[in-house]
Amino acid sequence: MIPLRENIRNMAGYVPGFQPRDGQAWIKLNTNENPYPPSPRAIEAIRAELAEDGAGLRRYPDAASMAARDEAARLYGFDPSWVIMANGSDEVLNNLIRAFAGEGDEIAYVHPSYSYYSTLAAIQGARVRTFGLTGDFALKDFPARYPGKIFFLTSPNAPLGFSFSLETIEDLAGRVAGMLVVDEAYADFAQGNALELVGKCQNVVVTRTLSKSYSLAGMRLGLAVARPEVIAALDKIRDHYNLDRLAQAAARAALADQDYFRTCVARICETREWFSTGLRDAGYQVIPSSGNYVFITPPDRDGARVYQSLYTRRILVRHFTDNALAHGLRVSIGTREEMETTLAALKEIG
Ligand SMILES: Cc1ncc(COP(=O)(O)O)c(C=O)c1O
Repeated sequence: MIPLRENIRNMAGYVPGFQPRDGQAWIKLNTNENPYPPSPRAIEAIRAELAEDGAGLRRYPDAASMAARDEAARLYGFDPSWVIMANGSDEVLNNLIRAFAGEGDEIAYVHPSYSYYSTLAAIQGARVRTFGLTGDFALKDFPARYPGKIFFLTSPNAPLGFSFSLETIEDLAGRVAGMLVVDEAYADFAQGNALELVGKCQNVVVTRTLSKSYSLAGMRLGLAVARPEVIAALDKIRDHYNLDRLAQAAARAALADQDYFRTCVARICETREWFSTGLRDAGYQVIPSSGNYVFITPPDRDGARVYQSLYTRRILVRHFTDNALAHGLRVSIGTREEMETTLAALKEIG
């Protein structure tokens, strides 16, 4: 038997959302991708990087991704020493665990939310605790003092779509002895965010991704905003060339093109509201969403049945077998046309 670490032998790997090979043949609403293309300026920036037959690719990229970091810092109103770029926000979530939680230490997150935190903890050999939700989406039984090393708070919550208020997040920051990591993968589709708490509370880190609101899931781009001491630690841990040249160029250009970004986000939010209203009228429960997806429950609370019926119509959504979620489905918001087809199908399926 090969001498694997015990925790690696025993852990189950994370199973990402299904990516069909014949992507064009599906209405693909299962992994919260953006239905619109990335900013044309991002595409131009990638092309410019590939000029002269890609000769520039012979050279390593800037190890610090400084141009992209500067752009993100400008956008969010922080000094660049408070920002780190990542190969997808998954990379920075991983590095946060590596920085703060050793083998046997505890981390926690909300159930249901993003189960990848569990996988990352298992790799590290850290223990995992989860906190459930009340019927009105407050944290259940969260202690006055949580002693673990990291508490991951996904806000907006994925897959349910609701957001925690700024007051709640600030209160949690005071109760968490370790770091409070606010995973804001979907915050660009919400009314508010927790960025101001990074300056205010010593232990708050905010993570973001360019996968959703900037349509760059395929480039693998994320970032974190935190105190310079935390950023310096994350800089020590990451792969030294964690972002390739094309990703750095795309990140900088996409973050700089706020007009395009705002137009796409507004369109998705408008479609989300239209779709939610239509589905409620058809008898579905729809949780008001601050993300680019909605969590919906059919009248008979049989999420698996509706998933299958949509699948046979080549509409792909996400069904979770987890007991807390199996009654419903998470549906990403696509173009208006895609959502019209999906709404019509859901009305037919009932
Ligand atoms: C809550 C949450 N956090 C993080 C991520 C990871 O995003 P990225 O593509 O930046 O790695 C996702 C992706 O689906 C997500 O849903």
